[in-house]
Amino acid sequence: MTAPAVSPFIIVAIDGGAGTGKSSSATLLSERFNLLHVDTGSFYRAATAEFLRLGVTAADPAAVRGAISGLQLRTRLNGRDAQMEIGGRVVPDAEIRSPAVNAGVSLFAALPEVRAALLDYQRQLADFARAHSFRGIVLGGRDIGSVIFPDADFRFFLHVDEAVAEQRRARQGQSDSIKERNRLDSSRKTAPLLCPAGASYIDTTQLTLAEVVEKMAAPIAAKLGVP
Ligand code: DC
Repeated sequence: MTAPAVSPFIIVAIDGGAGTGKSSSATLLSERFNLLHVDTGSFYRAATAEFLRLGVTAADPAAVRGAISGLQLRTRLNGRDAQMEIGGRVVPDAEIRSPAVNAGVSLFAALPEVRAALLDYQRQLADFARAHSFRGIVLGGRDIGSVIFPDADFRFFLHVDEAVAEQRRARQGQSDSIKERNRLDSSRKTAPLLCPAGASYIDTTQLTLAEVVEKMAAPIAAKLGVP
């Protein structure tokens, strides 16, 4: 008797600007294929909340370096979501989505020392996913397919018209400077927001969430040999 084929562990990268629906679509993919879901934007947000709490500004890289060296990063599993603990605490959603964090996160995320501090942390989450028997991992962010996992099995880049993204945020009841964050994230020197060569570019402006998810799910299902 031959052993049943073991389906491969897959890495799915979803990059894109603010309000493109990365997190919603990654959540749906994680449920459909039993993947660990990682919202890397929440990590930059949590770090930003911590810097603000410590009174550290992005204009003072030495203070940022000092603060980073004291950050203890660990992972807490919440369903299929990987949540990052900083100093033993998961920063609550209300805090990481606050206007102060929305306004400051891109400034901290542009600092090479902040990105370096989160790089290995993000990569080791693939091992975390394996250890917890997930079939793979899906990460949403800005530099997943370009820097964190350039060899990912699937790399998607989501685009949306910025006016539509701002309407989506307003419907969620949040004040967010989508255009300004995209401008800062695209123009920074380290790991800028861009569609990496070879990634699948999806313009979501005229698509429903279900349609976006289906575009990504079809090749994943084919690779895994599942419906
Ligand atoms: O996905 P988000 O909008 O919650 O991300 C918040 C900010 O974090 C985003 O404006 C830039 C930064 N970020 C990043 O620089 N790299 C990532 N991989 C994810 C987020």
